[in-house]
Amino acid sequence: MTTTPTTAPIAPATAAVIAEACRILGAGRLVAIPTETVYGLAADATNDHAVARIFEAKGRPHFNPLIVHYASTDSVRRDVEWDDAAARLAGRFWPGPLTFVLRRRADCRIALLASAGLDTLAVRVPDHAVARAVIESFGRPLAAPSANRSGEVSPTTAAHVWASMGRSVDLIIDGGPCRVGVESTVLDLSAAPPVILRPGGVPREAIEAIMGPVGEDDSGIDDRPRSPGRMLRHYATARPLRLEARDVRGDEALLAFGPEVPRGARSTLNLSPARDLVEAAANLFAMLRALDRPDHAAIAVMPIPDAGLGRAINDRLRRAAEP
Ligand code: TXA
Ligand code: MG
Repeated sequence: MTTTPTTAPIAPATAAVIAEACRILGAGRLVAIPTETVYGLAADATNDHAVARIFEAKGRPHFNPLIVHYASTDSVRRDVEWDDAAARLAGRFWPGPLTFVLRRRADCRIALLASAGLDTLAVRVPDHAVARAVIESFGRPLAAPSANRSGEVSPTTAAHVWASMGRSVDLIIDGGPCRVGVESTVLDLSAAPPVILRPGGVPREAIEAIMGPVGEDDSGIDDRPRSPGRMLRHYATARPLRLEARDVRGDEALLAFGPEVPRGARSTLNLSPARDLVEAAANLFAMLRALDRPDHAAIAVMPIPDAGLGRAINDRLRRAAEP
């Protein structure tokens, strides 16, 4: 067995620590931050590579879309299609434990991987001075799921984060225990009528007092078994996908992986010539979208190793390939 350092990288939110957090985030790496709900595992939301590291660190077998955290309502409005309901709810509950799912704007800055390829984005302004200070100093929004490994409960102290994530996070900013202690309520405002996808810190009654009746469908909650009819919507291509392809036809597009690429495709994009699964995850949705064009009869996808992040990549490819 190899020995690993056992000192936790836990530090209080001094100016120097926030500067260090910004340096780590700017390098595409991960910092755990306190919010009023639970601790978040944060990465630069505009960097697909950094967002891919979140999925790698959590060890999730699939890509769930993530919540993107902002310091102000104005900055949220740069990335999503804002509407009247969002404005009223934000006026009442932001900053706070309520997340909106809204359509991405055409000029949305956020990594497609944070949306798991969908046309929608989950956004919130956390009610925590440390979280907002980090976002403000960094100058970009942060994608952050709860800072625990897949299948474990959400952390509400810095020590919980360390116990669950260990060295896979470079810095854990200690903001004390989380005031709310449960995750934010996730409200899908892109659906008509709006639907609560996950109950959380803001109760349904408080939302309904502002905007009238909302539906509830918590079948998309992460890490739970899902009934096929009521799953979280997932990204699908319009063109058929041909998985495990070892050759390619002249009317197909090729989504390649690794250094040895079959020739003859109409178009080819390579997820990672170096067989780096973090790079492949970062490129997955953008490359599928780029190849999903009417002049391609199908998209042939080369085999991806079914280990580590490769499992999440293969999960999404299999779902996208379903007719
Ligand atoms: O309180 C919280 O919300 C914490 C703190 C860190 O902010 N974050 C958190 O993130 O719980 P996460 O990734 O563990 O949960 C995000 C939830 C998931 O249930 C996911 O399916 C849903 O939000 N979600 C995110 N984007 C979505 C989208 N575009 N459409 C539908 N559901 C979405
Ligand atoms: Mg979670």
